[in-house]
Amino acid sequence: MPLRRITLRVNGTTYTGEAEPRKTLADFIREDCGLTGTHLGCEHGVCGACTILMDGQTVRSCLMFAVQAEGAELTTVEGLADGDRLHPIQQAYWDHHALQCGFCTPGFLMTTVEFLNDNPQPTEREIREGLAGNLCRCTGYQNIVKAVAAAASTLAAASGARRETRTAAPSRATDVMAAPRKTDGTPAASQRPRHSGKTAKRRSGPKR
Ligand code: FES
Ligand code: FES
Repeated sequence: MPLRRITLRVNGTTYTGEAEPRKTLADFIREDCGLTGTHLGCEHGVCGACTILMDGQTVRSCLMFAVQAEGAELTTVEGLADGDRLHPIQQAYWDHHALQCGFCTPGFLMTTVEFLNDNPQPTEREIREGLAGNLCRCTGYQNIVKAVAAAASTLAAASGARRETRTAAPSRATDVMAAPRKTDGTPAASQRPRHSGKTAKRRSGPKR
């Protein structure tokens, strides 16, 4: 099968590679970009382990072909932390023991990012509904719900603090993803290019 050239951005870094049209986006991210934080469980859209953000919205990367993401801006779990400093959502999962084996966690985290963008002050019921598309076989979900509630509080407090120092409040979408980042725009270590020695090549440095 002929290869197709694919260029996309992941966590602020541009990758170009060649892949068969049938290659899934999840496989391209893991094998060609070398970003293995995105996990594959069911590989047919049920478990949510492969959830990433594509142009700011969650998608199941096992259900998309890589060629469909041509030119897209992707965020994977590697794009959340700022070096050794966890994103507030990751920190909340850590603090509230919201993971055991951790296999489902990248998908839950990315779902939580979008969920709290859309609903910064959710009720417990809304959290349960918002995460209903992600499956965990270890935790029983209780601590995940607690973690998301805690993350919402942390992000709300951070957003309030930023508002005090700005003349205009940032958008909610900016709030959740901006929280852990350095103010000078320096990319997180996790955003710097990683190469597997395979097809994808970084074309330009991170521009965040
Ligand atoms: S691996 Fe994609 S939804 Fe399960
Ligand atoms: S922590 Fe093991 S599947 Fe969720």
